[in-house]
Order: sequence, then C-alpha cells, then structure tokens
Amino acid sequence: MKKDKDFIDDLLGRMTLSEKIGQLNLVTPGGETLTGTVVNTDVADKIRAGHIGGIFGIKSAEAVRVFQDLAQETRLKVPLMFAEDVIHGQKTIFPLPLALAASWDMDLVRATARVAAREAASIGIDQVYSPMVDVCRDPRWGRIAESPGEDPFLASRFAEAMVEGYQGADLSRPDAVMACLKHFCGYGGGMGGRDYDAVDLSPATLHDVVLPPFVAGMRAGAGSIMASFNTLNGVPMHANRAVITELFREKLGYGGLVVADYTGILELIAHSVASDRAAAARLGLTAGVDMDMVSETYLDTLEDSVMAGRLDEAEVTAACRRVLEAKLALGLFDDPYHRLDWGRAAQPILTAANRQLARQAVAAVTVLLKNEGGLLPLPAPDSGKIGTIALIGPFVEDRVNMNGTWAVAGSASTVVPIADGLREAAGNALSILTAKGANIVDEPWLATRLNVHDWKELSVVIDTRSPEAMIAEAVAAVSVADVAVAVVGEAREYSGESSSRTDLSIPEPQKKLLRALKATGKPLVVVVMTGRPLALAEEALLADALLVAWFGGTEIGHGLADVLFGKAEPSGRLPATFPYCLGQVPLTYAHRPTGRPTPGRFEKFTTGYVDRPDDVPQNDGLFPFGFGLGYGKVAYTPPRADRTTLTGDDRLDVTVTVTNLGDRPTLETVQLYIGDPVASISRPVKELKAFRKVALAARATETVSFTVTVADLDFSIAETVTDTRRRWEGGAFDIHVGPNSCDTQAVRVVWDGPQFEGNRT
Ligand code: BGC
Repeated sequence: MKKDKDFIDDLLGRMTLSEKIGQLNLVTPGGETLTGTVVNTDVADKIRAGHIGGIFGIKSAEAVRVFQDLAQETRLKVPLMFAEDVIHGQKTIFPLPLALAASWDMDLVRATARVAAREAASIGIDQVYSPMVDVCRDPRWGRIAESPGEDPFLASRFAEAMVEGYQGADLSRPDAVMACLKHFCGYGGGMGGRDYDAVDLSPATLHDVVLPPFVAGMRAGAGSIMASFNTLNGVPMHANRAVITELFREKLGYGGLVVADYTGILELIAHSVASDRAAAARLGLTAGVDMDMVSETYLDTLEDSVMAGRLDEAEVTAACRRVLEAKLALGLFDDPYHRLDWGRAAQPILTAANRQLARQAVAAVTVLLKNEGGLLPLPAPDSGKIGTIALIGPFVEDRVNMNGTWAVAGSASTVVPIADGLREAAGNALSILTAKGANIVDEPWLATRLNVHDWKELSVVIDTRSPEAMIAEAVAAVSVADVAVAVVGEAREYSGESSSRTDLSIPEPQKKLLRALKATGKPLVVVVMTGRPLALAEEALLADALLVAWFGGTEIGHGLADVLFGKAEPSGRLPATFPYCLGQVPLTYAHRPTGRPTPGRFEKFTTGYVDRPDDVPQNDGLFPFGFGLGYGKVAYTPPRADRTTLTGDDRLDVTVTVTNLGDRPTLETVQLYIGDPVASISRPVKELKAFRKVALAARATETVSFTVTVADLDFSIAETVTDTRRRWEGGAFDIHVGPNSCDTQAVRVVWDGPQFEGNRT
C-alpha cells in the first residue's frame, strides 16, 4: 500500500530530536563543480549516523546507490533525497534559461524541462534546483543568464512551464523530479548589479515584479523553493520570517519545502545579524528555511538550542515534517531506488529525440536584431548562389563555451560545434573556411578568471599568435568568400554566479576583428554568444545581419546552421532590453513615467543623459524588450476592442489582424500590453499581459484574439511586505498590441465599476 500522511505522522512520532535535525542537513560531498568554497566531509559516516537528509551535486547513478544503501541501513531507513543543479538540461544541454525565455514558447520550455527531468531522474536525481525565476533588470548581474529576464508576466509563464515540465502530472512517478523555485527572493536586484549584494525594494514592487513568478510556480505545484543570498530591505532572506513564513507560507498558501542556498545560513553571521553559528541556525529555522545547505549549522547547534530552551522543538518537527512530506511526494518511502532503476532500463540520456528538441530550441531562442537587405537566410547550400562562407571568430570550433554557464553535468564532448554544423549542412555544395580571428579576451588574468570552472578543458585559450596575425588570417579567408559569418561574444563564465560585469561590450579584441571584417566590404553576418543583454551599438552598425544566439547548448552547431540557411526561422524575441550603453542600466520597458519625460532626445530639464547624442535613444534601450525580427515581414492592424466602455467583471475581447507580407512562412509573437494613464499611484507606462506565438504561412493573414479581465488591471497597495492588497481602479486603460514593447498600437477603453480591493494575488 502506498505510504501516506499517516505514515509521516507515525514516523515523526518515532524520531528522536537528533534524527529530526539530521533530516534538515543538506550536503554536497564536492566534486567537479563547486559553487562555494566549503564542502562537506565524512558524508558516509554522517549518513550512517542519521545526520543527513539530502545530498546534492552527485553525478552518477553508482554514487546515488551507494549513499542510498547507507541510508537504508539506518534505524528508521528514511530515504535520502538527491538534488542537482539541472538548470537548462542535464546531459542534453538546452539554450540558457534567459534564451529559453526568449523563445516565448512555453510548450517548448515545458518540453525541455521534461527531457531534463527524465535524464536527471535516470541517475537517481529527485529534485532539481530550477527554475530560477528572479526577474532582473540589470544586465551587469551575471545570473541574468539563469533568469527569464526583466518581465514578471513572461517570467511567470516560464515558471509554470518549467515546473510542469519537471514535475509532470504526478511527482511520484520515477521520471518526475521536484522543481525548486529560486532564489526567494529579490536576488535579481542587487546593488550595482553585483552578485550577493543588498536589495532594497518597495513592498509594492516586491509584490508586482518579484513575487509573481514565484506565485505562478507555486500554483503550478512547485514542491520546493530556495532562499536567496541577498538581504531584502535589510533582512537577509535566510532570516526573513516575514517574507518566507508570514507572507509566502501563511498568506499566499505555499505548502512545500524551503531549502537554504549554499552556506546561506552560516552567512547570516557575515550579514551581521547573527553573532555565532547557533544564532544563525535559530534565525534560519525560525524564518522558515527547512534544510540547511552545506553549512551544517543546524546539525551542529539546533539540539543544544532546544535543550537550552532557546528554540522550540516544534520548529524542528515542522521543518522535518516538510522534508519527509517532500520525500513522500517523490515516492521515496515506497521505493527509494525507483528513479534509479527506471532510468537504467530506459536510458533516456542524449537520445536522438532529446537532441532534436535541443536543435529546434536553438532557432526558437535565436533573436534576429538586424537583417539589412534580407541577407539572411543565406541561400540554401545546394542553390549554387554562393560558393564559399568564411566562418570567423573564437567560438566557431569551440565546444567548451557552447553549453554556457550552469551546465554542471553537461559535457563539451557531446556538443556539435558551430563549424561542424555548418560543414554538415554545406556538404560538398559549399566550402566553409574557418579562422579564429581573435581571442575571446587578450588579458591572461582575465582568462584565468573565466576558466574558473574548467577542470577538463579551458574555455578561454589565448592564442600564441599575435592579434594582428589572427586578424590577417581571418581577412584573407573573408576576401575569397561570398559572405562572412562572425561568431563573437562572451566566454561562458562571463555570466553565471559571481560573474557580474562592469562593461557590457563584446571584448575589444573581437571588436577589432569585426571592424577589420567590415572593411573587406563583404556581407557580414554577426552572431553573438552571450549570457546577458549586451550593448551592441557598434556591432549593429558593422553587421549587415545581427543574431543573438546566447549559448545554445549541445546542438548549437546544427541549430545555428538551420537558422543561417533558413531551414528554421530565428523566432526569439528579447526577454530583456538590450541597452544602448552601460550607463543606462538598470533598464526596463515597464518603467514608471516621470514628471519630465524625455522627448526622445536630450533636452535640458527633462529626464535623460547630457552626454548622449541626439541620434541615439535616450532612455530606451537599443533593442527593446520583446523585439526580434523574423524571416517574414509582418504587418499589424490597430487593435480592435469589442467594446470601449466596460463595467465591473466584464471581459474585453481585443483582436488584431497580422499579415505575413513575405513569401515564406514565419513565426510572429503578438504581444499585448496595458497602460493605466490615471491611477492613484503612478503605474508603469505599459506592462505585458498576454502574448501568442503564431505561425503564418507565406502571404497569410490571421486574426489573433486576447481576452482581458480586471485581473489584468490591478496592482498592489502595500504598506509592508505582509500588509498588502490588490486593487483595481476604474478609469481609462490603453490596450497596446504589437510585435514588441515599443512598436505597439493602442486602443483606449474606459472600464468603470466598483473599485476592487482584496487579496487577489
Ligand atoms: C547557487 C544556487 C545553487 C547552489 C547549489 C549556489 O551557489 O546560488 O543557485 O543551486 O549553489 O549548487
């Protein structure tokens, strides 16, 4: 008979205080990739002693079995729960999360998470530390690569799709894994874009921008969340009882597990809110953090704190219950080995179907920013229209960078490099000349930093040739080619944890290369590898066609060849604004108006920058949120509303007609935004409320409809983080529809009725 909650009650009743505390201890034995400086020791002995509840960072089924066997020898045989940082794929690596969000295709996002879940579960992983749903508007922060970008609505849809993909319909199935929404919360808003730095947010912004993806993920059934490293309005999240327990658990109804981040409990001392390990542990536990990751402060101190009367044992029991309930939901009490054994039989790793999905994903996430004269797609290889392509840049033969950051179980050896993908597509019909052209960076000290996680192969290798010699070789290749394709950008560890940047440019050696390629006069396609929005003003001038390919993962080579030769369309749309220059960040399309708005160019006493010339955007980015071209050309009619005056709980139908003016099928992402011109507080100029990715045949016209309800109009009135109400205020609303956040057309409606105020969140 399947174990149930009665079983947990009975088990808890039989556990000693020490055994309960053991369940709260979450450790890593260390290994290939470490995200902190501390690792746990004596793991096997601690399991035997009942001092470990969960393990993360294990890369093989064999190791999972060995550790689980030890747990099964303990008095109560409570199974261990195994977790891993499966962020954008386990072995089949998909594009970065930021890139997956750029697909605006939640079926695809869900499918990638499903594949990742099956691959991870097959080596015995029960829980994945994903999705990361931190909204981020500051591209200096390296972890924007792991996030769904700047917008809470897009991030919420991403959170749901990832959770559904990981957990499936039934978490107890052997191919389902528990999702973990992270990092809770506010982590994307650190001062200066620095990792781990302090976050100050108004309670209303917390509710309207930061929390929605966590709430959406919770409602999709996420079994766990992870606390974030930052302070929020002065209170470190690992000690933030108001936000974790009073708000998320008690008010918003979260019922799952809360895990710490790496040594996050111990760091309460460094945050200067705890004087010692015991105080840190008490603060963490009473805030609502159930499992202590790596620091072992719970294990070492909680028992004494209870004995000394400084902590109520009920707090320990409640946390332990949540750990046991998570294990119950995962089916571990029925069979601690069920993921492992299923996986062995099914071998769902790096299958042709998984690779095919990864290949499709590359086109879906790649964003076309410029396509002068329709340079892309290139003629099909067998068309006879071109004979030679010069494929230039430090990434063209590269495998190591292609998986991007946080691909801890991925392997460079399974990556299809870009050059291989193009050569395969070209066959004998086209010749592909390659040249490195430039180093990713020239500075040895920087290369050393960027190679921090490369224990098998280096991602940044500085060539022994001079920069001039490399450029000369590249120029020679381009001069005999019909077209140059330059692949430039960031090294993979330029983004990710503790990888903030003070500069958002493509490194200078690669810029020099692009200038030299431009000077040849040959058509120039620039493909950008990046884990963040970059400032691409110069590249946008140099390139005839400009593509953002992010880090595309295992199948980047095939996927990019599909895009370049038009077998697939680059249908990504930016999930975060690409700034014109570094000085503009943080930046979002959904900013609040000012009393002195910019007229679009510098004017004294209006908001803007005195040092920006008039021919470049002032406060807007270079490429707005939601932007991306396709290989078609799509025209929009103005949006039509089925009525322009509404009351109360009416529903508004908004339709727009989109026409593909081109001769090839295209994919268009139709976006609906709402602006609230008069309210009791100054509202963002517009906010994304709906989108639909539609396939349009050549010359086809489609009508796209959206339904708007009052739930799309409300906002938070928040005195404190917990004292919050949702409110919608009647009046005028502008319903914008368009291909991106900037190029919209609007219809105004007046929506009156009783003002709603309550807890709609
Ligand atoms: C990161 C988390 C990650 C954890 C475990 C931390 O440094 O912030 O996102 O899940 O390490 O590897």
